[in-house]
Amino acid sequence: MKNIAVFASGSGTNAEEIFKKFQNHSYARVRLLLSNNPKAGVITRAANYNIQVCVFDKSILFHTDDIITTLKEAEIDLVVLAGFMLKIPENILKAYPNRIVNIHPALLPKYGGKGMYGRHVHEAVVAAKEKQSGISIHLCNEHYDEGKMILQVSCDLSENDSPEDVAAKVQKLEHKHYPEVVEELVLKLD
Ligand code: GAR
Repeated sequence: MKNIAVFASGSGTNAEEIFKKFQNHSYARVRLLLSNNPKAGVITRAANYNIQVCVFDKSILFHTDDIITTLKEAEIDLVVLAGFMLKIPENILKAYPNRIVNIHPALLPKYGGKGMYGRHVHEAVVAAKEKQSGISIHLCNEHYDEGKMILQVSCDLSENDSPEDVAAKVQKLEHKHYPEVVEELVLKLD
């Protein structure tokens, strides 16, 4: 059995789709949910799936190896970022090379980088009158939103779409594709 850890900071709708996908999976399970936000909705979602929750302060993430210890103790094979709003530090990237995957709610390299998360992304897309947006699923490296691309899927936008409309279209793509990509990655692990 392969073990997945999900990192999330917010509501956790994407995390929940991943919890569902691996609830009775023959090959992998979600063993840990890690969050820097004690008030995040994702914590209740994880509890509903009986997934162990680890809440940590960002100083722990950035200044200690405690998160690595937690991941190793739970024998984590793959780390999935699902709306995690802090940068993954180098010690964790080194401990899990090519084993940390992220989803971004736009077609990178556009609308990526620091400050580009959640609704900020969709507001920027509408302000630029883009005709398309979409999702990017990629491996993580030391720069925000820049690791090796695994999958991009686009959706058409209409002139009248509000940032909320764009968010809804993008979220539909996220919920369909992210669990599938995570499954493909986990099946490829040695
Ligand atoms: C998702 O749209 C995800 O792509 C985005 O945060 C949202 C989390 O929603 N991630 C980023 O912006 C990372 N740069 P959720 O909590 O409902 O899954």
